[in-house]
Amino acid sequence: MQIITPHYILLRDKVVTNLSVAFDKKIEKIAPFDDLLDAFPDAKVTTLREHSLLMPGLINAHVHIEFSKNKTELTYGDFLNWLYSVIENRADLINDCGIECMNEAIEKMLANGITTFGAISSQAMDLEACANAKQNVVFFNELIGSQATMADALFGDFTARLNASKMIKREGFYPAVAIHSPYSVHPVLVKKAVEIAKKENLKLTAHFMESIAEREWLDESKGDFKKFFEDLLSQSQSVGSAEEFLNYFEGTDVLLTHVTNANKGEIATIAKNGHTVIHCPISNRLLGNPTLNIQELNKNNIRWIVATDGLSSNYELDLFEEMKISLFMHDQEPLLEFAQALLDGVTIHAAEALGLNTGEIAEGKNADMLVIDLENEPTKELPVHLILHRYNISKVYINGKLEKGAI
Ligand code: BEZ
Ligand code: FE2
Repeated sequence: MQIITPHYILLRDKVVTNLSVAFDKKIEKIAPFDDLLDAFPDAKVTTLREHSLLMPGLINAHVHIEFSKNKTELTYGDFLNWLYSVIENRADLINDCGIECMNEAIEKMLANGITTFGAISSQAMDLEACANAKQNVVFFNELIGSQATMADALFGDFTARLNASKMIKREGFYPAVAIHSPYSVHPVLVKKAVEIAKKENLKLTAHFMESIAEREWLDESKGDFKKFFEDLLSQSQSVGSAEEFLNYFEGTDVLLTHVTNANKGEIATIAKNGHTVIHCPISNRLLGNPTLNIQELNKNNIRWIVATDGLSSNYELDLFEEMKISLFMHDQEPLLEFAQALLDGVTIHAAEALGLNTGEIAEGKNADMLVIDLENEPTKELPVHLILHRYNISKVYINGKLEKGAI
């Protein structure tokens, strides 16, 4: 058992002081220090500096570790131009990002206070790095392929990767399923993957309605994707509609990434099925996609969370940066409430969406915690200040283990 005494603790909706936290892998008890020492006399005690704040570790539910090499290789500003540049550079980017490059991305996330991440894995090149990561990892094996003739081979490759990820037996590693998107996965494959996820109780995610091109292609088989599909995949029609795609997920909750072009009907379906939307504001801006309509999500009681996407469409894997960009993009939202919602979107709401017992400093939760070095006493505007000032993160605990910040 350990006892930590920060100056302040960020609870669900308030900051408390004069309390300590006893924890092992889980947070055992939050109480005055003397009470905890009575209860756990052999505990290892850590007393922190003035103005230190204990807060939950951050959760990045959508990142592509395999694409961590990109810095200037890919074309930004327009979704289809970006996609062409990904296809052109894909082999080089993946081959040039070996284990060290992936480990570096994972370590950077740790330094940025990310204690849990959802890795969208397209080829399982990142399996070893994710298996050995200090963080909790939801390992989303991705299924892609819109051509019926390729379906069997692609499904075989997907199940082989899924099975390999199931062989990883370590605390905090969760095999899961990603279906790339409604435009890129044949309905036969979508159905089969959803069946597996349901049967084996695996988390499911998909990109959904990211670009205007996706909207036009799925609705009318036209727009910027027409030439792409005709030239590269010999297809003149979309394999299905967005609504059909959502219908395959009935009865299971899914994390849908982007959702910047969903129509009213799709929003209603997302709300009805209790899906979560993953907001990646930097990626959306860089790829020329619209800004997520968060007011519409809030109106429909849809849970939304915040993630970085991969370095293929970002310059950092830093949720503080991501929240800051979102705060400035959504200039109609009330500042303080929106800052709190963003923080919830990288902690408790992300944990709930991923079905993990973390994201909150509360008794019984996994001890995934950060120590933030504030510079003075927090005010009621702490959520805004946390996002604006990018305070030093002096310690990171994951499942009770100190992973950053020697004592
Ligand atoms: C496909 O494999 O069918 C595909 C991949 C990327 C974008 C669109 C389709
Ligand atoms: Fe993505």
